[in-house]
Amino acid sequence: MKTLLCCSLFALGFTQASPTDAELLSIVKDRAKLERLTPKPKEVNSRFAELCRTLTPAEADEQAKLRLVPGHDASSIHAFASPAAAQSYFDPWGKFSEGSLVLKEKLATTENKTQGFTGMLKREAGYFPEGGDWEYFTVDGSAAKIIERGKMASCAECHGSYAQSDFITKLSASAAQLSGGRIMLHSSKAAPHGEKLQYEPLEKKNTLGFWVNAADWADWKFNVQKPGTYVIHIWQGCGTGSGGAEVEVSCAGQSSKFIVKDTGHFQNFEEREIGEITFKEAGEQTLELRAKSKPGGAVMDCRQIILVPKVAK
Ligand code: HEC
Repeated sequence: MKTLLCCSLFALGFTQASPTDAELLSIVKDRAKLERLTPKPKEVNSRFAELCRTLTPAEADEQAKLRLVPGHDASSIHAFASPAAAQSYFDPWGKFSEGSLVLKEKLATTENKTQGFTGMLKREAGYFPEGGDWEYFTVDGSAAKIIERGKMASCAECHGSYAQSDFITKLSASAAQLSGGRIMLHSSKAAPHGEKLQYEPLEKKNTLGFWVNAADWADWKFNVQKPGTYVIHIWQGCGTGSGGAEVEVSCAGQSSKFIVKDTGHFQNFEEREIGEITFKEAGEQTLELRAKSKPGGAVMDCRQIILVPKVAK
């Protein structure tokens, strides 16, 4: 894991989890090199957009008393992550390794003009336990100046209510295509259909499960931005004796079938490549996951599907 993150940071032009101010600013400026997690600007509650920044001491006092209510004058954001951190962002329980970077770009309601940035950089264990060991920072709208960085208590306090997801809200996670091309279809974003199949939210589960009725199925809707051929990666688990079900993944008029592998336990997930899909054009798509047979007690558990752009060999 660590090697991967070091590599991704290396690719971004620095090698350690503690960049200088100039390095941090160039990452923000060159954010097109990060993974953009939001295909389109995402509307946010204006109250949060307002508070998720560097506060004056008086505002910080005030913040404790504020009750957050949805406003009408929403502004919008884009969310970014370092490439190796993107997968954790889409997993409700995903934790981030040292060197991970998550960045939020705030856009004004009119003309989508950049108003400023807030970011979080995962530091070494023990750096700031109350803040999830993240370094927090805020940058001005032209990415020319760091307004503040460090162990910012005002940020940590609010982000601490998202401790389950490692202090990251993950409110920008959806079934979506990242700017780098991967299409993230996590079980928590699936729509299950039928009687029993459901997303099971506990950390040790965190999967589409309870697939005891072979007629149940699930789908994901997403927008393809980059036409092309994608390899289907599926994380499947299956208890001893229940393997052997035939499962079909269909999308864009194409289908790939595979036989579920017995992995010794339903939550022993194995990543498998089970076929390819070609999108001839950009636009809305629906991917369906269906069982063709169920020889054992349940079909399988499925934690996520990721469609990975096929690299020409
Ligand atoms: C009052 C609560 C609150 C405070 C204080 C706050 N944030 Fe946030 N932050 C949020 C919420 C809510 C979101 C998700 C916005 C959305 O997508 O709707 C968010 C999103 C983010 C994100 C995008 C990643 C994610 O969680 O999905 C970053 C990065 C971030 N905040 C950094 C900061 C920094 C740095 C500070 C301090 C300067 C800060 N925040 C202060 C509530 C807060």
